[in-house]
Amino acid sequence: MLIKKPEDIKPSEITPRELYMNRRQFILAASATALSAATVLNGIDSPFSSSPAIAGQKLNNVRKSSFSATEKQNSFKDITNYNNFYELGTDKTDPAENAKYLTTRPWTVSVEGEVKKAKTYDIDDLIKIAPLEERIYRMRCVEAWSMVIPWVGFPLSSLVKLAEPTGNAKFIHFVTLQDPKRLPGQKYAVLDWPYVEGLRMDEAMHPLTILSVGLYGEVLPAQNGAPIRLVVPWKYGFKGIKSIVRIRFVEKQPPTSWNISAPQEYGFYSNVNPEVDHPRWSQATERRIGEFFRRKTLMFNGYGEQVADLYRGMDLKKYY
Ligand code: MTE
Repeated sequence: MLIKKPEDIKPSEITPRELYMNRRQFILAASATALSAATVLNGIDSPFSSSPAIAGQKLNNVRKSSFSATEKQNSFKDITNYNNFYELGTDKTDPAENAKYLTTRPWTVSVEGEVKKAKTYDIDDLIKIAPLEERIYRMRCVEAWSMVIPWVGFPLSSLVKLAEPTGNAKFIHFVTLQDPKRLPGQKYAVLDWPYVEGLRMDEAMHPLTILSVGLYGEVLPAQNGAPIRLVVPWKYGFKGIKSIVRIRFVEKQPPTSWNISAPQEYGFYSNVNPEVDHPRWSQATERRIGEFFRRKTLMFNGYGEQVADLYRGMDLKKYY
């Protein structure tokens, strides 16, 4: 049996979580909680309207899910301070630093296109369309690092069913907020803004595919894609588009940001595949953040039993 030695215990595992949060966000979260309590007592509506990010608030009634991995989870500090969110900066620590700019109330998500029930949802209504679940997922970034993250969210399929897609809906196109004041990285032409992503309809309906609104039982921090982002655990992390404002049902395969930027390097499918290398590096192994030795990367990130059927008969070297 391995007994944890003190030098193995990282400060992030023993320091209170709030010390690692953006300080302003934490103060605002605390005052938002106080405000919401006061609002309930006073019977006033809409406690958070036009208030900044409310990361840190506890999410209630979160169910456990049988889809969760049982591996050791990464610390809150790792998950919220080692991020890719180019609209908040291109270094891994930039998004946490710039999280303060991304206010998430008011926020709407428009569900549109080839559906019978097009609707613009207020985020506070959207998070109530299905019970919230904790989904502990292995996440594999295309840059060959990985983490285990306890997301909180609900299946994307719940929203798809409410929207009632028409027979023409073959794909879903997702769009991130476009607002250089709240996403200052959009002032620089790193990518074609807004960030866009897409899924085939059967991928979107798969029970593992979720819209996440939280992690570690709390409202999603801005740097992780607040107030709502996509999580598809068998695909490279860049498919998990953050801070979504539009979900459009379409007939043709939609354009995706990284594919527009470098089509030979990033395909539409982007399923985790140790046998198909990135043109500039191998995908055979990965570094789990917090670990010293590299691990072997698993086909479909270890979710093959659940998802391999979606791609039966497809040449995954061609459809990378
Ligand atoms: N979504 C937007 N809008 N902008 C981004 O830059 N980066 C992607 C994805 N979603 C990105 C995005 C990449 S490359 C990864 S690996 C994951 O977000 C990282 O998610 P995390 O920071 O919550 O771990």
